[in-house]
Amino acid sequence: MVDVILGLQWGDEGKGKIVDYFAPRYDIIARFQGGPNAGHTLYVNGSKVVLHQIPSGIFHENKINLIGNGVVLDPVTLKRECKTVKDFGIDYQKNLFISDRTHLILPTHRALDKASEKAKGNEKIGSTLKGIGPAYMDKTGRNGLRVGDLLDKSFTTQYIKLRLKHQKLLDGMNFDEDISNWEEEFFDALEFMRQFQVVNGEYFINEKISQGKKVMAEGAQGSMLDVDFGTFPFVTSSNTISAGVCTGLGVAPQKIKEVIGVTKAYCTRVGGGPFPTELNDATGEELRKIGNEFGATTGRPRRCGWIDLVALRFACMVNGVTQLLMTKADVLDAFEELKVCTSYKIDGKSVKEVPFQMTRVAIEPELKSFKGWKTDISGIKNSADIPKAMREYVSFINDYLSVKVAYISNGPGREQLIEMK
Ligand code: GDP
Ligand code: IMO
Ligand code: MG
Repeated sequence: MVDVILGLQWGDEGKGKIVDYFAPRYDIIARFQGGPNAGHTLYVNGSKVVLHQIPSGIFHENKINLIGNGVVLDPVTLKRECKTVKDFGIDYQKNLFISDRTHLILPTHRALDKASEKAKGNEKIGSTLKGIGPAYMDKTGRNGLRVGDLLDKSFTTQYIKLRLKHQKLLDGMNFDEDISNWEEEFFDALEFMRQFQVVNGEYFINEKISQGKKVMAEGAQGSMLDVDFGTFPFVTSSNTISAGVCTGLGVAPQKIKEVIGVTKAYCTRVGGGPFPTELNDATGEELRKIGNEFGATTGRPRRCGWIDLVALRFACMVNGVTQLLMTKADVLDAFEELKVCTSYKIDGKSVKEVPFQMTRVAIEPELKSFKGWKTDISGIKNSADIPKAMREYVSFINDYLSVKVAYISNGPGREQLIEMK
């Protein structure tokens, strides 16, 4: 069977830590979408590691880590990351598998991303500039190159053809940067990639499932960045929700069992786009400071605000979330008062549904207030020791979402996770 761990907000919910924590219970950890726009932080023997392209199960011995067909892969990032992983004594050659259907991110995809963002001016998405959008456009536009193509004699010809096409687009956008060093790195990384176990991902994973092996699908980004259900157009270019597991790995829907949705105890977003509960004040600043809310991929400050239950309930619905996992609860320890958004006020009306577009309407969050717990919770191991005020906060969220918070994360460390009993 396949369980899924994914983010329910705008990314950076702490998926990396959670996947790393649960990895020992699985045989295969698989990424099914996204690419190096992801930055998943975990701690290995007390040292911080940020993974962008490799699944977060890589630090566990004898676990298969699969980069699925739904991912877009930048060979340069992969090469760099393999070095990091190797420095921790991990034999990535043994544990890392890549689907032959995985699309490649080319240097010109990165250039196109940059040019496209520049052309948007004030309306830019705030992309990570990793070439994600252009790479997925070439996939759906039926032009892209895939990992399996690397083994074909025609690869260089295909590459040149696509590169020329991109160059025309770049010329039209007045992009005049020299990307020859990106290309040099890219070809160097392609050589490096020859050592990998490239597999027919869908047969590979289905065979393992029929042998009774357990798969964990690791989401990247968050549900509100999903290309269909997120705050379009301020989204990423893949399906980040649980349905993406089927298309991104080639597993059938009935194989999916638990959908573990990860949410912060508050909310953050990096890049542009609507964020109804955003706090542009001292409280927001405090959340950013205590939560150390700076992007793991780009280092940009993350926008901070209260937890948005309207968006969360929507995310639980489209994902079929079976269990919730609340991270960074410790960040709220010092706050006198906490707030949660229970509805949006749009055109004078109170609504509990996420509208199809959130950029052309003024959305005012309607907030319910809670007393802060004012206790250091970072050392708590048992749910019985959770402060009463925190229990009330969590219990309200459970009831609102009709899904239970099954775990609370109370610090970045691997062991800082409380099972709610
Ligand atoms: P991801 O993209 O969902 O994997 O999340 P990121 O790694 O981008 O961002 C989450 C950040 O929060 C990382 O710096 C983690 O080390 C940190 N983190 C995760 N869980 C907790 C937690 O429960 N408490 C605190 N204080 N930090 C956490
Ligand atoms: P993880 O997996 C947070 C955001 C970008 C931008 C928008 C589109 O670490 O949670 P893209 O580069 O995909 O074209 O950018 O999506 N974004 C993320 N925000 N966490 C991520 O990944 C993100 N990946 C993309 O900031 O607003
Ligand atoms: Mg992240």
